[in-house]
Amino acid sequence: MTKQNFRFLISLVFTVTLAVFALVRQPDANAQGGNPFDTGGRDDKPAGEVFKNVQTLKNMPAGRLVGVMNGWTKALGVKCNHCHTLGAWEKEDAPAKQIARDMVALTSRINGESLKEIKNLKSERPSISCYTCHRGAVKPETAPAAPAQPK
Ligand code: HEC
Ligand code: HEC
Repeated sequence: MTKQNFRFLISLVFTVTLAVFALVRQPDANAQGGNPFDTGGRDDKPAGEVFKNVQTLKNMPAGRLVGVMNGWTKALGVKCNHCHTLGAWEKEDAPAKQIARDMVALTSRINGESLKEIKNLKSERPSISCYTCHRGAVKPETAPAAPAQPK
C-alpha cells in the first residue's frame, strides 16, 4: 500500500467512525431535545408529578402545560429562552421564570379577590390574563402611545 492510500484509508476509517458515532448518539440527543412536554401518556396526572420542577401549576393536568407555556410566550412576545435554558427546562437560571410564578399569583389575586370587590361590573365573572397587561410585550405600557401629530 502506498503512503497516500494509507492516509486515505485512515481518514476514511475516521470519517466512518464519526458517522457511526453520530448515528448511535441520535436517540440520546432526541430524548433531550425532543418534545419537552412528553408526559409518557400521563396527560391527566398532576403536572407536579410528571415534570421535575413544576410548583405553582403542580395540580394542573400535565397535558395542559404545553398550552400554558405557548400562551405565556405569545402574551409576552418572547421565546422559551426568555425563561429557560433550552433543554434544561427544570432549571431556575433565568429570573423571569420565578417572576412568571409570581405573576400567576398576582393574576389570581386580581381575579379571585380584587375584581370581586368591585360592584356593578358588566361580566358575571370579570377576569384578566397575562395578555390583558402584557399585550405581546415584556414590559406593559402605562400610557397610550403618543397621538399622531395633527397636520
Ligand atoms: C414567562 C416565562 C416562561 C416562558 C416564556 C416559558 N416558560 Fe416554561 N416554565 C416557566 C415556569 C415558571 C415553569 C414552572 C411552572 C411552575 O413552577 O408551576 C415552567 C416549566 C416548564 C417545563 C417543565 C419542566 C420541568 O421538568 O419541571 C417545561 C417542559 C417548559 N416549561 C417548557 C417551555 C417551553 C417549550 C416554552 C416555549 C414554548 C416555555 N416553557 C416558555 C416559565 C416559562
Ligand atoms: C396587572 C398587570 C399584569 C398582569 C396581569 C401580568 N403582568 Fe407580568 N408584568 C407586569 C408588570 C408591570 C411587569 C414589570 C415590567 C417592568 O419591568 O417594569 C411585569 C413583568 C413580567 C415579567 C418579567 C419580564 C422581564 O423583564 O423579563 C414576566 C416574566 C411576566 N411579567 C410574566 C407574566 C405572566 C406569565 C403573566 C400571567 C400569568 C403576567 N405577567 C401577568 C404586569 C402584569
